[in-house]
Amino acid sequence: MPAQHAATPASLMIPRLPHLAYGGDYNPDQWPEEVWAEDARLMREAGVNLVTLGVFSWARLEPRPGGFDFAWMDRLLDLLHASGVMVDLATPTAAPPAWLARAHPESLPVTREGVRLGLGSREAFCPNSAAYREAAASVTRALAERYASHPALALWHVSNEYACHVPECYCETCALAFQGWLRRRYATLDALNEAWSTAFWSQHYSEWEEITPPRAAPAQLNPTQQLDYARCMSDSYLACFELEKALLRAESPDIPITTNFMNFYKPLDYWAWAAREDVISNDAYPDPAVAEVEITAAMAHDLMRGLARGEPWLLMEQTPSQVNWRPVNALKRPGQMRLWCYQALARGANGTLFFQWRASRAGSEKFHGGFVPHVGTERSRVWDEMRSLGAELATLDEIMAARTRAEVAILLDWESWWALELDSHPSSEIALMDRVQAFYAPLWRRNITVDFVPASATPDDLARYRVVLVPNLYLTRAATAQALSRYVERGGRLVMGYFSGIVNERDHIWMGGYPAPFRALLGLRVEEFAPIASGATIPLRAADGSSFTCDQWADVMDLEGAEPLATYAGEWYAGRTAVTRHTFMDGIAYYVGTRPDTAYLERLLRQVCDEAGVKPEIEAPAGLEVTRRMVGERSYLFALNHGPAAASLRLARPGRDLLTGERRTTTLDLAPLGVAIIAEDVAR
Ligand code: GLA
Ligand code: ZN
Repeated sequence: MPAQHAATPASLMIPRLPHLAYGGDYNPDQWPEEVWAEDARLMREAGVNLVTLGVFSWARLEPRPGGFDFAWMDRLLDLLHASGVMVDLATPTAAPPAWLARAHPESLPVTREGVRLGLGSREAFCPNSAAYREAAASVTRALAERYASHPALALWHVSNEYACHVPECYCETCALAFQGWLRRRYATLDALNEAWSTAFWSQHYSEWEEITPPRAAPAQLNPTQQLDYARCMSDSYLACFELEKALLRAESPDIPITTNFMNFYKPLDYWAWAAREDVISNDAYPDPAVAEVEITAAMAHDLMRGLARGEPWLLMEQTPSQVNWRPVNALKRPGQMRLWCYQALARGANGTLFFQWRASRAGSEKFHGGFVPHVGTERSRVWDEMRSLGAELATLDEIMAARTRAEVAILLDWESWWALELDSHPSSEIALMDRVQAFYAPLWRRNITVDFVPASATPDDLARYRVVLVPNLYLTRAATAQALSRYVERGGRLVMGYFSGIVNERDHIWMGGYPAPFRALLGLRVEEFAPIASGATIPLRAADGSSFTCDQWADVMDLEGAEPLATYAGEWYAGRTAVTRHTFMDGIAYYVGTRPDTAYLERLLRQVCDEAGVKPEIEAPAGLEVTRRMVGERSYLFALNHGPAAASLRLARPGRDLLTGERRTTTLDLAPLGVAIIAEDVAR
């Protein structure tokens, strides 16, 4: 019988690469050709098996409209192939060449204030520009035709970090595109006027052509107009991706296609995008100077696993050492790069690439780290670390088939994020990521793995989880409210945060007492919102008498079946309920009507997890992150020490450390920034 844990081609993220991916962005066009042979030699030395090629090579590949120069790229692909390095070949469409802007100035993007952005940087294109799309399609088709059957090709990398620098364009072309998008969505102007509630402030539209993007305006813009524009922009960029993807697919049906995401990136609805990707990939640049940044990093990795529906994903970019684009670019200290790589693997990645292979000697990214730093590879700490990591990863193929699983899910929805953070709300200080991180961090600290799920999750999707957390769902669709209620009805545990269930997908209030779609489920009615002044806190008293604080927001509510877990102990609403628990059919729904301090939220989530039977992967000291990847009866325990001191862990099961080959029976000692992957003995 074949070993159950062997990766089969069908289960591989990149079928032509049956190993953990290791490598980076390769920009050889910035270097004379003599350097390429050395690159190839050093890549072999570093254990590189995949490089992303040509991301910013448009002007070099097509110096004049329709005049292609592929000879240099041919030589590179052949060289890489001969060196055993596979290629993640990029379409170069994130950096249109100067000739496009010259011939088509209207292809340049325009800001909200009406400023047309210029050349000399990158990403200077309007996603709805016909000239841009035609030129992008043409270069993509040419690349696809030329390289579809090249043996070095393993993955297609479409464009780069869509919408990174231009989250929204407000040009005339986009105005027309918006009108078309609205016609498809609403069919009639009556329906649009109703959805946008244009009876307000004389905003009624009598012709589609009157409608504009939400450009700079004298006062608050129509919220539904703003929300629809966010949807339209995410869709516009997605259409650019789809256009290129179709061309690549036609030439190379077996080569997977990706575009690199940017963590929790508000402008693009990554759930909609993920459904179109063959491989989910992400660029992660946590700031080493930020305390506990490993929590934010873990959260992004978990989002990628969620976007990949639990399947492996690829860490497309991180820096070997430091970035160049912060005011102060903290350096990863010795061991930190390795630790952070393993953190991604611990959370389901099947490989990690870096930006970039060879540090540039000129250009605005010349101080960005690379595998090969300016000082060269002799006596280079960075190079030594990269090379030893490459050697280590080459021994870990057996983890590829194993998957990270979670019993707790956080629901995250982009439409609701957009709507929540519009202007003119009771408080402008509620930020979705603040709320998500507040719920995530206590679980991370206890080594309880969390999945992210979309608002479109069905009751069956949710039934896989013992606990579902909804830190905020300001905009709630009726179907989501039904799914969450059904999930609890059947025995699930739900924790919901304040200002959820307030509006529908048109940003109209759900009438009937807040939060109308969840009142029955939560067993309460919020009568009034009492935002708390910036910086002020009020006392919060738990049912057992212990004291905490809360800030930002206070719901003033009546209970309709829910029991109080905590009450306000200050302000005119002192004594009124702040946090509740409601038994709803076979399940329990909790509601948190304020922003409690960390200690309270930790305690509440501990209670919920205990009641639901959710246990940590293992009890571990603070700063020690533990996850498991599992396949069949095999399990791999990842232990990562983010703390400044050595730490030890009592193992639940003995096993073999894949990184040292040593057996570990009872305890595992980890140096600061230390990592272990224990292949746990199979229980018999
Ligand atoms: C992003 C881009 C890369 C590079 C890096 C620098 O991730 O995709 O091209 O600019 O940032 O950190
Ligand atoms: Zn535009």
